[in-house]
Amino acid sequence: MFVLTEEQLAVKEAAREFAQSELKPGVIARDSKMEYPKEQVRKMAELGFLGMMVKPENGGGGMDTLSYVLAMEEISKVDNSCSVIMSVNNSLVCWGLEKFGTADQKAKYLSKLATGEWIGAFCLSEPEAGSDATSQRTTAVDMGDHYVLNGTKNWITNGGTSKLHIVIAQTNPEKKHRGINAFLVETSWDGVVIGGKEDKLGIRSSDTHTIMYTDVKVPKENRIGEDGFGFKFAMQVLSGGRIGIAAQALGIAAGALELAVAYSKEREAFGKPISQHQAIAFKLADMATDIEAARLMVYRAAWMKDQGLNFDSASAMAKLMASSVAMKHTVEAVQIHGGYGFVKEYHVERLMRDAKITQIYEGTSEVQKIVISRGVLNGELY
Ligand code: CAA
Ligand code: FAD
Repeated sequence: MFVLTEEQLAVKEAAREFAQSELKPGVIARDSKMEYPKEQVRKMAELGFLGMMVKPENGGGGMDTLSYVLAMEEISKVDNSCSVIMSVNNSLVCWGLEKFGTADQKAKYLSKLATGEWIGAFCLSEPEAGSDATSQRTTAVDMGDHYVLNGTKNWITNGGTSKLHIVIAQTNPEKKHRGINAFLVETSWDGVVIGGKEDKLGIRSSDTHTIMYTDVKVPKENRIGEDGFGFKFAMQVLSGGRIGIAAQALGIAAGALELAVAYSKEREAFGKPISQHQAIAFKLADMATDIEAARLMVYRAAWMKDQGLNFDSASAMAKLMASSVAMKHTVEAVQIHGGYGFVKEYHVERLMRDAKITQIYEGTSEVQKIVISRGVLNGELY
């Protein structure tokens, strides 16, 4: 597991080359202006980064989760708006549809999503249902051959650009979470309204929107799985998604370390490069050690998923660890840069702002601890 194959190394190299040559040049301006990376997303699609794990017969790259993680890590060293767009499309939308969708649903939507012709969004969170995800207020009333969808989702990544939403909604409130369903909803349908773009601390050029659904008619064949499967679907998809966000956090931390190492060798103070001051060198040692620990956890969670093992706790642990390492060490990378770290030109302040979201979305760090502690108490772990 710890030796990457030639194919995996080639994916990592291709992603690195793309990130450094195509994403880095305009990333500061896009972040400042909250400009959606339209051209960059088109290139990601062209290079196959939007449907990496989808089987080739469904229009994807047929790669393993570890290859996907390696690409996420390299892209996240530079542009986390691009990497979250990529993560949602790959691991929440494409993976969920390929694993749980019907043959007809896949034929209709999957290759469009995997090739990036369409971008997908995953709509679970609501104004009053974030961590407490079973408290869904969005309703999907069963009308026989179709459902009628009403409600509001917020914080939806790819909200302004997606053509297909996976929407989680309550059909039978008396059954609580066992009454929840998941639906494939085309954004061109009557009653789907996209709200304004959020002005965020980090990942500023990704498009995060509130979405309103008013009397949207959803054909019955667009429900994913059996009646009442929607909450379990969301949980299983999120277990996979958390590996992608863990890889994003890992990339943020590793990117900050690369910048800090280069800067510390160039910047001189008291007659020598600051890397020669032990206080700085030890910071670099701590960063490298923590990043390596996070990397092993992220790669292992990906490997467990590829082996068909239960990876719920492993993905939660990887996300918890990698996001904490990203937050802690991007702050250190800014410190190593001194005043230069505080301005946009040196990239580390953006990575520090981007790091924070990895402790919040796809389940806060507290939610990851709920998942992990249940695994520990159930005897699944150790
Ligand atoms: N796989 C399958 N089923 C699962 C499961 C899993 N991993 N986890 C839970 N379930 C099932 C349980 O078995 C239970 O079903 P039964 O009663 O039939 O057995 C049902 O789901 C309810 O589970 P819980 O009792 O554990 O539910 P809970 O109310 O205690 O909540 C929680 C658990 C882990 C906190 C969950 O609500 C959660 O994950 N919350 C966070 C939501 C989240 O991550 N949102 C992210 C939105 S997407 C996003 O953020 C994208 C982005 O930014 C880019
Ligand atoms: P709350 O659930 O209200 O939590 C507030 C605080 O209370 C947190 O610290 C939390 O950890 C803590 N807390 C809550 N319950 C407990 C508990 N039981 N024990 C201990 N602590 C607890 N959602 C989507 O569905 N799709 C998306 O594409 C998407 N993209 C997003 C992009 C961005 C930029 C952001 C900011 C959010 C996105 N989200 C998305 C929503 C995200 O998943 C939620 O914000 C997150 O799950 C937390 O929910 P909340 O914001 O309602 O916080």
